Amino acid sequence: MSKLKFPDGFLWGAGVSSHQVEGGNTKNDWYSWEKNSGKVKEESGRACDYWNRFREDHKIAKDLNLNAFRISLEWSRIEPDEGNFDMSAIEHYRKMFLDMKANGLRRIITLHHYTVPLWFFQKYGWHKNKSVELFSRYAEKVAEGLGGEIDLLITINEPRLVVNRGYLVGDRPPGKRNPFLFWRARRNLVQAHEKAYDSIKRIYPDLPIGITQFTNDFDYFGRGRWQNWLTEKIESFYNWHFFDEIKDKQDFIGINYYYGAKVKWCYPFYELATYEKRVTDMGWGVMPEGIYEITMDAWKKYQKPIYILENGIADSEDKYRASFISGHLRALHKAIRKGAFVQGYFYWSFLDNYEWNDGYAMRFGLVEVDYKTLERKIRPSAWEYAKICKSNELETG
Ligand code: BGC
Repeated sequence: MSKLKFPDGFLWGAGVSSHQVEGGNTKNDWYSWEKNSGKVKEESGRACDYWNRFREDHKIAKDLNLNAFRISLEWSRIEPDEGNFDMSAIEHYRKMFLDMKANGLRRIITLHHYTVPLWFFQKYGWHKNKSVELFSRYAEKVAEGLGGEIDLLITINEPRLVVNRGYLVGDRPPGKRNPFLFWRARRNLVQAHEKAYDSIKRIYPDLPIGITQFTNDFDYFGRGRWQNWLTEKIESFYNWHFFDEIKDKQDFIGINYYYGAKVKWCYPFYELATYEKRVTDMGWGVMPEGIYEITMDAWKKYQKPIYILENGIADSEDKYRASFISGHLRALHKAIRKGAFVQGYFYWSFLDNYEWNDGYAMRFGLVEVDYKTLERKIRPSAWEYAKICKSNELETG
């Protein structure tokens, strides 16, 4: 039996996002999308009621030896109407932040995790240039009200996915399939991040700010030389282009990693197909080595602190979760041994939650939620993870 030790001060966490767990978010684009698009299995409704039950959840996080917790803020609660900021929502988030602190949890906060206020969706959208200013104004209000209580700030969760799904595939709001609007929205997201970065840094110069991106370890579908060349270009665009564009306006590299993928050509240009035999309930191939490859790539390219901000498995029977986590941590540790400066790992997700288009069937949680009673039940795999978090090391057999 050997032990893989993680660096001192390593952050051990788990994450959730506002719309997926808070419940009652009726003033955002997703609420309307759930009702009207016909592309969503079920409505989010009261979700896990984290908005009211956060104390219970933070206490569970503490019992599981986590030392960090990732949540997102719901822009539509903070700015329910254009230009009208609701101080009671800010105060509510302050209570949540203080409670995290009281439970020994570092506060890792995302400003935009897929949802935007309904007014923004109806009147603007990321393809409108005004979105840049509107987002940075919201970011500034958050910094003024809560900045002192945040340990690490993510402006935008998975910007590439926001524009790919929203403007090319069209299965998420605003449901467009328009390459021209896609480019505009993409450019605006880059600028929205940069402007928000500058305005928050004016108030809190030492607060680490960055983004987190959905990444894949790519494999080649074809063998031809041009296919390899093209796949490399796609990989680089897919994983790294947004980080490249925001250049030095980022203090860390946030990585969300779930699976490796092959490139298959089709509309819009390509699709990712899994090729592993073992797949999760989502149909995603389990490929722990990918986290090593991605982390090394990020380290070589940017030489900045790296946080794995999402890695997890939909596994309703909790059969594979513990080995999924330990397998990925073993691969991550290899990257650390090779010199990558990794500062934290966040399992996704803390609670079973609303999995967007898939509704409630996908169960990613360390903690199981009974959606009828809202009762929380810690899964056996969570106790395995808790051991690693406590000892700061992984035992390998
Ligand atoms: C998103 C989460 C989502 C998870 C699993 C990530 O891309 O940030 O909101 O639940 O994937 O699909």
